[in-house]
Amino acid sequence: MLISGRGSNLRAIIDAIAEHRLDATIAVVISNNADAPGLQHAREAGIETLVLNHSAYPSREDYDRALVGELQARGVGLVCLAGFMRLLSPAFIAAFPNRILNIHPSLLPKYPGRHPQQQALDDGATVSGATVHFVNADLDAGPVVLQREVPVLPGDTADALAARILKVEHQLYPDAIARVLGESSSGGN
Ligand code: GRF
Repeated sequence: MLISGRGSNLRAIIDAIAEHRLDATIAVVISNNADAPGLQHAREAGIETLVLNHSAYPSREDYDRALVGELQARGVGLVCLAGFMRLLSPAFIAAFPNRILNIHPSLLPKYPGRHPQQQALDDGATVSGATVHFVNADLDAGPVVLQREVPVLPGDTADALAARILKVEHQLYPDAIARVLGESSSGGN
């Protein structure tokens, strides 16, 4: 799994595995940010962690080559992005064809990119949600694995909506991983 920050989705996936709702193994959690609070969730669960700081590499391609190398060295079958704040280069995506998932807090294709909750509010939406999708070369545009709706309530702030969506993300991501692993009946992530 690749993270950059809080890691609440990582935590939800760890819990789903521990509670046998998801049959998978997390081979490694890699963060581009040494201070990512989410790394602690992995350490507490006894999962290997690795910090690869992108600023230590001369180019995106060099950084992504290093990431791919670490993932391949561990035999990772499915790469799960959870709040990983880096765009992936075409070479990374080509190294794991149809085997990279991301979670996004909107009903894609609505509100891709930054601040999707604020985008939903600005749009006057009454419904938003969360999407787990395959990652391809276009930002937040790969094939959808699972989506779940979340109501936008009167008076919502972006933070309130984000918190409501996040609860749903925590159920949706393990469900989506189970679906993808079930379809490919292969190993961990
Ligand atoms: C989530 O809202 C996810 O949808 C988005 O970034 C956030 C990551 O949260 N891509 P966390 O680090 O999993 O708590």
